[in-house]
Amino acid sequence: MKIPLFTWIFLIPFLTIFSGVNVVLVSGQCRDQRPLLELKNSLTFDNSASTKLVNWNSTPNCCEWPGIACDDGGSGRVISLDLSFEGINGGLDHSSGLFSLQFLQNLNLSVNSFNTPLPASFANLTDLISLNLSNAGFIGQIPNDISKLTKLVSLDLSTNYFLGGPALKLEKPNLATLVQNLAQLEELILDGVNISAQGSDWCKALSSSLPNLKVLSMSNCFLSGPLDASLTELRSLSIFRLSSNNLSAPVPEFLANYSKLTSLELSSCQLNGIFPQTVFQIPTLEILDLSYQQTPSGFFSGVPSESLSSDPPAQ
Ligand SMILES: *[C@@H]1O[C@H](CO)[C@@H](O)[C@H](O)[C@H]1NC(C)=O
Ligand SMILES: *[C@@H]1O[C@H](CO)[C@@H](O)[C@H](O)[C@H]1NC(C)=O
Ligand SMILES: *[C@@H]1O[C@H](CO)[C@@H](O)[C@H](O)[C@H]1NC(C)=O
Ligand SMILES: *[C@@H]1O[C@H](CO)[C@@H](O)[C@H](O)[C@H]1NC(C)=O
Ligand SMILES: *[C@@H]1O[C@H](CO)[C@@H](O)[C@H](O)[C@H]1NC(C)=O
Ligand SMILES: *[C@@H]1O[C@H](CO)[C@@H](O)[C@H](O)[C@H]1NC(C)=O
Repeated sequence: MKIPLFTWIFLIPFLTIFSGVNVVLVSGQCRDQRPLLELKNSLTFDNSASTKLVNWNSTPNCCEWPGIACDDGGSGRVISLDLSFEGINGGLDHSSGLFSLQFLQNLNLSVNSFNTPLPASFANLTDLISLNLSNAGFIGQIPNDISKLTKLVSLDLSTNYFLGGPALKLEKPNLATLVQNLAQLEELILDGVNISAQGSDWCKALSSSLPNLKVLSMSNCFLSGPLDASLTELRSLSIFRLSSNNLSAPVPEFLANYSKLTSLELSSCQLNGIFPQTVFQIPTLEILDLSYQQTPSGFFSGVPSESLSSDPPAQ
């Protein structure tokens, strides 16, 4: 028997009622609304700066709220949360609804003014792959709890401070303890964190724990030199930033062993010795910054003259 299409369309509501089967699409319906609203209610933020939080609750399905993404599989679980640039100035503590979002993989709280130490409950977010707390206003010691986030691929705790001292520090735990279980890390951005460690210590801490590192950014970290040869174990390194640390050491020849290096930034590092010519032979190198330092006489004696004349003359 052939039933015309329009008849089927007509029958659908009756079939649903009588079969008891719910045909309403549940896939993608948010299941994390309660912790999200708890989070919003606990945060203090500037309504005029906020573009995301102010618009939460605008639609019934919280997967559609700004700054939120749910799992593709339709589980209704929040996997990404971006609250960057929201004018948040407080209200995050260890019991925040944020830490009940157990399926979270990407979290960006950058550029806010939390003005509080990092809560230990970050350790609850064990599925995190990327954590961006850059210029989020967190202060004090970075807690050991961050080292429990063993799936992290990208970690950004950087601060640009101009006045006043560094906001975050790594003393107890130190850098070695922070990274010891973070073997998946590909990006480590710690600019402006007071790490204040000696050359062989911080170099060995990184080289022994982070075999997949591609981006290492530690400008303004109160690091001292010299650079330790163990760093060559970071074979995938592509971006290496150490500007504004008092290395007071030569640029080591082994930097030429990074076959994927694209950017080497060593401005304001009090470098001495002779700059190794072999670094210019890295075929992938695009950016080399050695600005702002008193180089000793002969520093560039190993450098081919065409390399030095590649910049257009100032003025
Ligand atoms: C963190 O996880 C623990 C153990 O799973 C749980 O008891 C606690 O409630 C969680 N914290 C928050 C703030 O959700
Ligand atoms: C973190 O967020 C800031 C902006 O809020 C961005 O500039 C930076 O690139 C992000 N970090 C990473 C590792 O993507
Ligand atoms: C937030 O951080 C993530 C990863 O760190 C980055 O990919 C994203 O672009 C950032 N968002 C903004 C608005 O900067
Ligand atoms: C950095 O940390 C070290 C060790 O904790 C401390 O002695 C030093 O005063 C700190 N530097 C600044 C600028 O805060
Ligand atoms: C760098 O490469 C050169 C040439 O392959 C090798 O002799 C040297 O031992 C390497 N240095 C380090 C620190 O691995
Ligand atoms: C850099 O460190 C060296 C050796 O510790 C020290 O003698 C020098 O004064 C420092 N320079 C600056 C600018 O802090």
